[in-house]
Order: sequence, then structure tokens, then C-alpha cells
Amino acid sequence: MTRHEDAAGVRIRRTTPFDAALFAALHQSCFATGEQSHQQRAWDEAAMAQFIAGPSTLCLLATVGAEDAQPAGFLIARAAGDEAELLTIGVVADLRKRGVGRALLRHAAEALKSSGIRALFLEVDETNATALALYRQLGAEAVGRRPGYYEDGGDAAVLRLDLQS
Ligand SMILES: CC(C)(COP(=O)(O)OP(=O)(O)OC[C@H]1O[C@@H](n2cnc3c(N)ncnc32)[C@H](O)[C@@H]1OP(=O)(O)O)[C@@H](O)C(=O)NCCC(=O)NCCS
Repeated sequence: MTRHEDAAGVRIRRTTPFDAALFAALHQSCFATGEQSHQQRAWDEAAMAQFIAGPSTLCLLATVGAEDAQPAGFLIARAAGDEAELLTIGVVADLRKRGVGRALLRHAAEALKSSGIRALFLEVDETNATALALYRQLGAEAVGRRPGYYEDGGDAAVLRLDLQS
């Protein structure tokens, strides 16, 4: 199993089918803080199991602490041709602002790049300043908008992270 530990002690690994329930719990927890105005769809254990089993999805789990003790965050991306899109990323509320989100995205970018993906697209609620700052910090650039993308009429920004450089 590919495993990576960064300087801040965040470990990143690909998920296995046994992580589906944990992924669903993490998703619920990460998107229940009210920090982002447009909630994502509720992805239950069955939905997560499908993502994890999918041949074109990349599912990463971040942990901190000894022996991977504490689940810290997760990321799901899906590839199509030589492009990929970020479906979701989340870090548990009490472990934010420690570089976990950055570590997940960097790891995803490296993994996608090494499998021949040229660009990662990131669609994000225009009011989600935290996610926008994270994506821009890693070099993503705005390439468009989707007006009324969310059920409540909110707009999405579309960013593109070049993986070729
Ligand atoms: C977005 C999210 C994943 C960021 O995770 P994180 O682990 O806290 O992010 P990091 O600590 O790696 O921060 C990396 C960069 O993001 C930006 N950032 C992170 N938190 C921020 C905040 N509260 N305000 C502004 N910028 C912020 C900064 O540029 C930061 O770099 P810095 O530490 O050098 O200042 C996390 O806040 C989260 O789970 N939010 C709820 C779910 C969500 O909105 N997901 C994105 C849409 S799918």
C-alpha cells in the first residue's frame, strides 16, 4: 500500500474497501460544521464503497498520530481521459489549519500526474474562501464559473491545477 508521511506528521494512504464507513463518517463530520454555505450531497457508506471500488477514482485518507490513530481528512478525485476532477476534500474541524488539506491535495496531484493526468479541475462554492485559498496556494487558477450550480442558487467557481509542470 502506498503510504506517505509529510514533515508535519500527516500520513496519507489510499483507501481500501474497509474504509467505506470511515469515509462516510468523515464526510458527514467535515461538511457539518457550517463553514461552507452549500452542503455537499450526503454520501453514505454504500456511495463511498462505490467510489473506493471505482477504477477511475482516487480515494485518499489522511491520518495523524501514532499507528494512524486519528483519521484527519479525506479526498476523492475522479479521472476521465487525461483530466481529473476533485469530487470532495475534507479535514475534521479540530485538525484544520495544520496542513492536512494541503498534504492531501499535494499527494493527489502527484498520484494523478504519475498516472498520466495532465490537469485537475476543482469546482468550489464561490463563498468557500478557505477552499479557494487552499487551491490557489497550490497553484490552481480560475478558469470559469457555474452560475446557479448549487440547489439554493449559489454559484460555483471552477479552478484548474496544471499537473504538467
Ligand atoms: C478546506 C479544508 C479542506 C482545508 O483543510 P486544512 O487542513 O484546514 O487546510 P491546510 O491547513 O492544509 O491549509 C492550507 C492553506 O489553505 C488556506 N486556508 C486553510 N484554512 C484557511 C482559513 N480558515 N482561512 C483562509 N485560508 C485558509 C491557507 O492558504 C492555508 O495555507 P497556510 O497554512 O500557509 O496559511 C478544510 O477547511 C475543510 O475541510 N473545510 C470543510 C469542507 C470543505 O469546504 N471542503 C472543500 C470543498 S469540497
